[in-house]
Formats: sequence, structure tokens, C-alpha cells
Amino acid sequence: MKSTVWLPLLTFICRSASSNPILGLFDSTCQVVSGECPNKNVSFWLYSNSTRENPILLNPLDLNPWDFQPPRPLKILIHGYTGYRDFAPNSYIRPVLLDHEDVYVISIDYGPLVRYPCYIQAVQNLPLVSQCLAQLINNLVDRAIVANDRIHLIGFSLGGQVAGQTANYVKRKLKRITGLDPAKPLFILGPDSRRLDQGDADFVDVIHTDVFGRGILRAAGHVDFYPNFGAQQPGCMEENMQDPGSCNHERAPRFYAESINSTVGFWGRQCSGWLVQLLSLCPTTGAQALMGYHVSDELRGSYFLQTASKSPFALGKTPDVDNRQTLAKFHLNFDHNEIDNDYEPQLLEAFLELEAVKVVDKMDEANLDKQLNWIDRPEEEPLSRNFIN
Ligand SMILES: *[C@@H]1O[C@H](CO)[C@@H](O)[C@H](O)[C@H]1NC(C)=O
Ligand SMILES: *[C@@H]1O[C@H](CO)[C@@H](O)[C@H](O)[C@H]1NC(C)=O
Ligand SMILES: *[C@@H]1O[C@H](CO)[C@@H](O)[C@H](O)[C@H]1NC(C)=O
Repeated sequence: MKSTVWLPLLTFICRSASSNPILGLFDSTCQVVSGECPNKNVSFWLYSNSTRENPILLNPLDLNPWDFQPPRPLKILIHGYTGYRDFAPNSYIRPVLLDHEDVYVISIDYGPLVRYPCYIQAVQNLPLVSQCLAQLINNLVDRAIVANDRIHLIGFSLGGQVAGQTANYVKRKLKRITGLDPAKPLFILGPDSRRLDQGDADFVDVIHTDVFGRGILRAAGHVDFYPNFGAQQPGCMEENMQDPGSCNHERAPRFYAESINSTVGFWGRQCSGWLVQLLSLCPTTGAQALMGYHVSDELRGSYFLQTASKSPFALGKTPDVDNRQTLAKFHLNFDHNEIDNDYEPQLLEAFLELEAVKVVDKMDEANLDKQLNWIDRPEEEPLSRNFIN
């Protein structure tokens, strides 16, 4: 991509970037917990349609097979920073699942480990949370209480990263992970093992709704959906004037919940990358693919769509608009594989991340280095290494 495009974009993005949550860092009550699993700060609550008001608190070491009879698929919902078991995505998704799908739902609760304002410590506590979740999954599958291929992890924000890290500890490859606006701050510069990516399950689908703020911009799954460019979500300025970013972020679980029983559906069109789409250089005719709960696990690539500004958000399929002439002006083939990387947006994202870390860094350099020690690890991520050295 030419640098003439690059500079205005940089300015645009810097202006749109929301304030960074890691600034609440040096509260003395913030703790990194080094604990064992099971852990009383990480609890698992089992819901079925008939027990939705009285969920069962599971003991990962003493599971009762009868709690999972009759056999049904299992959906595991994972909240994020400042969450708990009734917080997003649970509040949006669990009721719709229990109403419309014959499934079990486990809502994990690790609220004590991700309290405000302790974002860095929350990030550092995730491996413990992930180990405890993996222990539960391993025990469920080892004891043939739930079949591995019927388990689906759905994580919002930091919970999306928990889902990705859980893959590091399970005995069998996970079948499906859904990442709902997986958290960005402190994840871009780390190794893949810290971050949700397509290696973490047979199928990883991701929805991005706050790519300039709390959510990650780069593609993180086999398929990535970017409603409204994954950026400013319609309706959020009105809904939460103080903090539209938080509204953008929560659109991901809201869209996902709606996708479970939507009659029209969220349909997106493929484009080779976010920047290409932003420049309107992708075809606006042809096949469309369904986003959300009923996404096809054969789908690959990045998809873009518009939504309504309030519930119901789904707009169904988009009418075709023939833009071949515009594309021809840019000498682009109608086959959109011609420009095929989002290297620069990713570079930019890493840059912004580094800036954010630097702000914190000035506050307490030694402490931060210690806290973020994984950043300096030399493996993987050539992109971030350029910045660090
Ligand atoms: C989907 O289900 C939820 C409750 O589970 C309900 O409020 C909503 O109206 C339903 N949507 C459609 C399109 O039926
Ligand atoms: C859940 O229970 C309600 C009423 O108890 C019933 O109407 C609904 O069909 C059930 N949902 C599923 C998915 O079984
Ligand atoms: C639970 O988390 C709190 C911090 O919120 C910590 O003080 C405590 O040691 C933790 N307990 C366990 C068993 O890890």
C-alpha cells in the first residue's frame, strides 16, 4: 500500500484510539496470583434449560456424570476484564442459548482475578484461569462425560484470550473457539501462545467490534468478521457518550447472541484485508457468508458487514452493487486476492501498543519490565521484534 494512504490513516486511527485500560496499573491492591487448580477464584457454573435459575457449581475433581444427562453439546462462556459469571458475554448469550438451543452452558467466573483497575495483573492471571479451565475440560472428556468434539468455548475480550491460552493445556485439540472482540492491550507484542489464533482449535471464528480500543485488529481466527469495520459501532455514541468504546466492545457478544435465533442473519462479504476494505477496494457483489453462532466451519478469511444501530442489529444480506469500474481504476483484478496482506495495519497496531506500553513504562520501568517479561522473548512475531530492539 502506498504511503500516501498511510499517513492520513495513521492520524485517523490515532485520533480514534480510545484511552488505554492499562493505565490503572499501579494500585497496590493489584495482585498476580500464583495458585493451583482447582482454585476458589475460578469457579464453573453449569446451566441447562431446566436449571437456569439454579446453576450447579462444579467441582472439576469430582464431576457428577448425571449433571450432564441427557448428552448435549456444551457451550463454555468466558467473561473478560472486570467480569463475573453474569457479565458479558453471559448476560447476552446464555439466555438465548438456553431458550433456543438444546445445550448445556458453563459460565466460568474468575472475577476476583480480573478486578478493576488491575489490568496488567489480570492479564498475568490468565494462564492460571486457562489451566483451571483446561483441567475441567480434560476431566470431562477423560471421564467420557462430554465428548471433546461437542465442546465450544466462547470468550469475550480477555475471555477470548483465555480460550486461546486454554489450548496450551488441554490434552486434545479443542473443536471450536469463538473469540468475541478478543482483548488487545498487552497481547499484540506477546507470543502466539498468549493470544487467540487459528492454531488453538479446529475452527476459530472471531468477531471484531472495537479494533481501535479494547479489541484486536489483526485477524485471529480461521474466519474473522468485522461488523462496521470493527470500529465505531452505529448507535454507540448515543448509547454511551462517556465511553463509546465499551459499547463498541460489547457489541460483539450482543451480535453473537442475536445471531443464535435471528431470522434475517448477519451476512458479510469477503475482502482480503481490513485496509483494503477501508479503501473500498473489494468487490461488492457475489457470495455472502453468515456470521455468528451458525457460521460455517469451512469458511476462511476476513468478512465485512454493516449492522443496524440498535437491536435487532442484523440486516440480512446486502444487495449487490457493481463496483468493477472503480476497481478497474485501481488496476485491481475483480478477484480480490490481488492485494493480500494487512501488514501495515498490523504494524500500526503494534506501534500503538508499544506507545501505550511506553506511557506506562515511564511510570515505573523496572516493574513494568518484570510484569511484561514475555514481551522480550525472542521467538515468533518478527513484527513486534522490530519495535522492541
Ligand atoms: C430471539 O430470542 C430472544 C430470547 O431468547 C428474544 O428476545 C428475541 O425476540 C428472539 N428473536 C427473534 C428474531 O425471534
Ligand atoms: C426451555 O424451556 C422452556 C420452558 O420451560 C421451553 O419453552 C423451551 O422450548 C425450552 N428450550 C429448549 C431449547 O429446550
Ligand atoms: C484469590 O484472589 C485473591 C486476589 O483477588 C488473592 O488474594 C487470593 O490469594 C486468591 N486465592 C487463591 C486460592 O488463589
